[in-house]
Amino acid sequence: MRLFFAVKLSEEIQARLHEEQGTLKALGADVKWVERENIHVTLKFLGEVPETRVPELSAAAEGTAESAQPFAMGISGLGCFPSVRSPRVVWAGITQGADQMAALAESVDKAMERLGFERENRPFKAHVTLGRVRSPQGKAQLAEGLARASQAQGGEMLVDHFCLMQSELRPGGPIYTVLKDFPLSAG
Ligand code: 2AM
Repeated sequence: MRLFFAVKLSEEIQARLHEEQGTLKALGADVKWVERENIHVTLKFLGEVPETRVPELSAAAEGTAESAQPFAMGISGLGCFPSVRSPRVVWAGITQGADQMAALAESVDKAMERLGFERENRPFKAHVTLGRVRSPQGKAQLAEGLARASQAQGGEMLVDHFCLMQSELRPGGPIYTVLKDFPLSAG
């Protein structure tokens, strides 16, 4: 099964980000937009993993969650990776709580390394993926739209757990299911 660890976003944040997607969508760039209910923060992508390993992954993630404290997260500003000239991923930024999110991603990454998963070779940049660019068509309009949305507000929430998610790839888009919740319970 295809697995990843993520922080789910409140419905309110998903709704606000969906509105931002709507504004960008109208600019006509060739982007595959993430479905509203799928909008999340990825902590660690594991890829294909045999189902029999889920208990072991869960035990390790529990350890990580038990040594992290809940934190406030604020989402604002839109942008893209790797650059405005050649956008591939359109994102909403994490402003408040970015350091805690990076620390959490780092400790999940380390815990998974102990189980044989490769460490991320790029530094973690806390973000919420809103869309994936399919072709350069309309990228100038997209860049202008992102510049105008640099102050966009996605809202705030308390991050008090993360989830092990399953991703099933379907022709209509991925279906994400929560397999397990891990409450942040330090302190
Ligand atoms: P992203 O949103 O930061 O791009 C579920 O597939 C999530 O895992 C995606 O939202 C994506 O995070 C992340 N991910 C990381 N590497 C991936 C890969 N090679 N294939 C698919 N998803 C990946």
